[in-house]
Amino acid sequence: MHFKKILGTALAVAAAFALSSQAAMAKTVVRISHTQIETHPDHIGFVAFKNYVESKAGDKYDVQIFPNSTLGANEKVLELVKQGVVQFLSVSTANIESFDKIYGIFSVPYLFTSEKAYEGFISQPKVLKELSVNAKQDGFECLGAFTAGTRNFYSKTPIKSVADLKGKKFRVQAGPTNVAMMNAFGAAATPMSFGEVYSALQQGVIDGAENNELALTDQKHGEVCKYFTYDGHQMCPDMIVGSEKFLSSLSPEDRKVFEDAAQEAQKAEFAAWHKRIAEAKEQAKKMGVEFINVDTSEFRNKVLPLHEKLLKENPAMKAMYDEASAYNEAHK
Ligand code: GCU
Repeated sequence: MHFKKILGTALAVAAAFALSSQAAMAKTVVRISHTQIETHPDHIGFVAFKNYVESKAGDKYDVQIFPNSTLGANEKVLELVKQGVVQFLSVSTANIESFDKIYGIFSVPYLFTSEKAYEGFISQPKVLKELSVNAKQDGFECLGAFTAGTRNFYSKTPIKSVADLKGKKFRVQAGPTNVAMMNAFGAAATPMSFGEVYSALQQGVIDGAENNELALTDQKHGEVCKYFTYDGHQMCPDMIVGSEKFLSSLSPEDRKVFEDAAQEAQKAEFAAWHKRIAEAKEQAKKMGVEFINVDTSEFRNKVLPLHEKLLKENPAMKAMYDEASAYNEAHK
């Protein structure tokens, strides 16, 4: 009798253990990839995403964030997103342009005249929908947008006017619009992955690059480039893209959890962004970087004629171009 009772308890414990480990095993691993370091606003946004999903459906999903390009450069990870191996990724629109031409829109130089207009524009749910119009074919869709501030030139020699760009080699993000833009500025475009820029600068393969201030500090480009020019040529968001394969496998309730998580991530990222930029600027000054203010209209006027040409070459952008221009006018 006594023996039977012990055996019964042991069996019950074993069964409970098997059940709980089955439950643990049954959790779906959700992988998020990005290229930034762990103090970057994109990472902070994804921590909010993870916390939200796990607070709503932590029994089902185990959200894992892979920063620092540990899963690979964005261009490669996008393939994994399509296959459903990686479920979410933050990726610059410039990197998606070669998959779907509509994303070229944010590479059009001087599309917005203020970050206020740009941030307001990308925060509209209808913009996410319009960008995701080909989601089924693309294999991914946009659930949110992180701001990545304003892109500016930085270099080993000071850029004070358009003439200073002439004949220089500048790294740009991949995408035909970026190449066209650099040509219009009179410089040579060298497209390459984000992670390769530091050594290319160091080895003299390129003279400079273009990005927001965090590239100077987080990616250490400020160790090599001591001049950062506020020409403000682009405002290009990092989209929170979700794998279509993954999203279409979800129940409507679970899908809503991930959609809401992306909105929470966006809010957290926006809040972190402005604070972090101010800090990075101070940090870069300590690294010896000089910030140069220029007459931005000289830079703008140089590339404005390109708009018409870009729209002709890439009509997929036209509707969103008109919408963004109207929004910009109304929210200057
Ligand atoms: C920014 C942006 C990244 C992008 C990078 C680049 O850091 O946030 O998404 O990859 O610029 O220039 O490649």
